[in-house]
Order: sequence, then C-alpha cells, then structure tokens
Amino acid sequence: METELTIVILAAGLGTRMKSAKAKVLHRAGGQTLIEHVVDTALQLTRPGRVWVVVGHQADEVRQTLGTRGVGFIEQHEQKGTGHALMVGREALESAGGRLMVLYGDCPLISAATLRWLVLAQEQSGAAGVVITTLLDDPYGYGRVLQDDSGGVLAIVEQKAGTPEQLLIREINSGIYCFQAADLWSHIDRIRPDNPAKEYYLTDIVEILNRGSRRVLAMRIDDSSEVLGINNRIELAKVDAMFRARKVEELMLAGVTIEKPETVSIDGGVRIGTDTVIEPFTRILGSTTIGEQCKIGACSIIEDAALGDHVQVGPFTYIAASRLEDGAQVGPYARLRPGVHVEPGAHIGNFVELKNTRLGAGSKAMHLAYLGDSDIGQKVNVGAGTITCNYDGAKKHRTTIDDGAFVGSNSTLVAPVEIGAGAYLAAGSVITKTVPPDALGLGRARQENKEGWARKRRKASQG
Ligand code: UD1
Ligand code: CA
Repeated sequence: METELTIVILAAGLGTRMKSAKAKVLHRAGGQTLIEHVVDTALQLTRPGRVWVVVGHQADEVRQTLGTRGVGFIEQHEQKGTGHALMVGREALESAGGRLMVLYGDCPLISAATLRWLVLAQEQSGAAGVVITTLLDDPYGYGRVLQDDSGGVLAIVEQKAGTPEQLLIREINSGIYCFQAADLWSHIDRIRPDNPAKEYYLTDIVEILNRGSRRVLAMRIDDSSEVLGINNRIELAKVDAMFRARKVEELMLAGVTIEKPETVSIDGGVRIGTDTVIEPFTRILGSTTIGEQCKIGACSIIEDAALGDHVQVGPFTYIAASRLEDGAQVGPYARLRPGVHVEPGAHIGNFVELKNTRLGAGSKAMHLAYLGDSDIGQKVNVGAGTITCNYDGAKKHRTTIDDGAFVGSNSTLVAPVEIGAGAYLAAGSVITKTVPPDALGLGRARQENKEGWARKRRKASQG
C-alpha cells in the first residue's frame, strides 16, 4: 500500500487574509512553519520521492525551509485556485499512478493516523475519491459538503457560492482527499473557473466525478480540531495553542512536571527528561534539550540550548544557544547569550551576562558581571561587578582566567589579557597586563586618608 501513495501539498498561495508580506505557509505554529508540519506528517505515510509541494509565493523560502527533507517541488507561478494547483503538477504527479492524496499547507494539525484511515477508506470502498469532513458549530468560510442518503458526496459548495440553505450545512470540507489517481487525472480538465473568484476550484471535481458515474465518499472525523484551516492570525493563534497543549501533555505523560501548563510555551522539537520541573510562564524553544531532575524557574526563556541533569535555572533567566552541564546553576535574572559553556557545578547568579564564554567546573560568578569572549578555568571566583572589556571599538579580544583565580569585585579586565592560575586581583582593579600565576594583580589608585579633614571642613562651614 505504502509504495503507491503519492502526496501533494498545496502551498502556493500568499494567504491574503493573513495581511502579511510573508507567505501563509511560512508562518509558525508550535515552533515550526505550517508547511513543515504538513510535510513531516506526509513523510510518515510515504517516502520523500513521493511527496510533492506546490509552491508559488516565496517559493525559494519555502524550498529552503524544507531544506533537507528530500521532497519534490512543483511551481505554480500564478495562483488560479486549488484545482489549478493540481493541473500544473500533472506532469510530475500523473506518472506515479496509484493513489493521490491532497493536503493543504494551511491545515497543519492533521495526524498521520487519520490520514492512514483515509487511505484505507479509499482502498476498501474503491471510490474515486474520499474526502475528510467534520461537523463544525460555525462552518463559516469552509466549503459545505452536500451528500446523498448513502454517504455519497454530491458536491462541495464554497462559502461564496452557497445558497442560504446550503450554508446551513454544518458538515465541512477539510481540503484533504485521497483519490484514485487515474480517476482524478481523467476528469481534472473539466474544472472550469466559472465562479465569482474566477478560480479553478478543486472542490468542483466532486460533481464532475459524479457526472462521470464515479463515486466520492466522505470520511467524517469527530475531532474537528485536526482539520482546522488557518486563514487569518486568530486561527493561527488557536492552532499554535493546540500544538503547545499537545506538547505539554506529551511531556507530562512522559514524567515532566509542568506547573500551570496553560501558561507555558514549549516548541515541538524540545526534549525534556523525567522529574524535571517547569515553572509557570516559561518558554522553551527550538532544539533545546533538558536533562533529568532539572528545575526551570518561572518566566525563563531557553532557546536552542542543551542542559544536562540536575541543572537549576532561576526565574527570569534567558539562555540562548548555550550548553549547561550537570548540576550547573544559573539565575535568577541571568542572561546567557550564544556560545556559553557552563561546566558541571558552576554557578551564575543574578544580573550576570555571558557571551561566547566557558565557565569551568565549580566556578562562580554570582552578581552583576559581564563575561564575554572568555575562557574561565575551574574553581574561579568572579567577584561582583567584574567586566571583561572584550571590544576595543573595532575588534573582539579574549580574556583567559586560569584555574583557582580570585577576581576581586569591580575588576575591569581589558582584553586581550590573561590571569594566571591561583592569582588574586584586588577589588576595583583595571587589569591591562598579564597577571602571573599566584600573583596579586593590583591596578588602582592607592588610598590615602587625611586625618581630621572632615572635622575641619565642618567647622569652617559653621563659620
Ligand atoms: C479550501 C477549500 C474549502 C475547504 C477549505 C479547508 C477550495 C476551492 N476550497 O478553501 O472547500 O473547506 O480549503 O481549509 O479548495 N493554494 C495553492 N494554489 C492556489 C490556491 C490555493 O497552492 O492557486 C493553496 C493555498 O496556499 C492553501 C491551500 O491551497 O495552502 C488552500 O487554499 P485557500 O485559499 O486557503 O482555500 P480556502 O478558501 O480555505
Ligand atoms: Ca484555507
């Protein structure tokens, strides 16, 4: 069965109702573009060589987005309707024979399981086509499904073309079909653009097949959320919320504690280990992986990061494209910009910013610091207010702090500079030269006390 299924995904439209410069299928829900969702579902049913995407608006971006998946593309230069999209693909698709499944790029919640049922329904009935339908309380905007008494579909009537009576029908066309390919191709040329929009409607194929004595059946599904189409940003937000609800449920069932899950956003590709606790209002995005028994504090944002086991992230922390090893502690209120590597057991406290920096095992930077382009060894103590001056206005330079060094509070490290192992820096120093191992680096004006100075000043002012 699997070898003869070809899937075509219509994704050429701009999506006028999105009011966007970006093609509709490139908008994101659940952390992925709509088209990626549909293509990935299709790839669960058939091999990449049998999946085709019809592209038009921003075709290059769509191709790029689907990058390595190995699916084929069909160009529809002018978008003259869903029927037209198939007509332009005829050359690529017809020779494949077998069954042809049609999916719409703006309908990303459909599951592979439902699509398998659709193929089975077509196979067992021998109908020319089977269309997925569902009952909606508010069917506005969808094509309505006109049926005979025995479940045969007579016609699909679009919102704009329906009579008031037809528009009362609550059973809608999902836009997802499985055709006997030969039947589709022998009838498709009869679709005419004879509607107010002057488009070739794929939905007209139903009446055409009926006229040719070929039956079309409906497969009605109960869970209508699977076939929610996205035409505007309100629908986009609804579908996004559904993807995220699915994701947190999946994680909770797999042993992750998520407090107030309705406030948490987790992208589809994120992986989280058991007994990790996710506090409210967190956003965990992209390709992030989090190990076991971690705690992610409220309102934190973690993007494309890798966290080991037993990692503690305090509230209001932002972590991007960084790696935190087992037992690391970060935040509250810390910012890790891309390229940070926190080794096991290292601590980063509040209002500390790191960028492109390694913080060695057991090292600490607990308060108010900026550490950029730095290589910091093990068991280093970075005092409050330490700043690496990594940028001279033209170039970036590196700072190296070797194992066991003690960086006094409010030190200014003018890079490139190296602090040797076990060295001490006096608080408030401006360090511009290498400090040898075990030395004291002292770079500040010497303090002078003037005895009695304040008393004299007070007297003078009293006259
Ligand atoms: C379509 C169906 C409607 C169904 C609804 C389900 C038709 C005529 N109508 O309406 O019965 O209830 O989907 O969501 O099919 N596209 C192309 N090329 C084109 C036109 C569209 O590739 O020339 C693509 C779009 O990018 C989109 C999909 O086809 O991904 C559906 O097009 P859209 O304009 O959104 O159709 P609807 O009006 O929603
Ligand atoms: Ca649509």
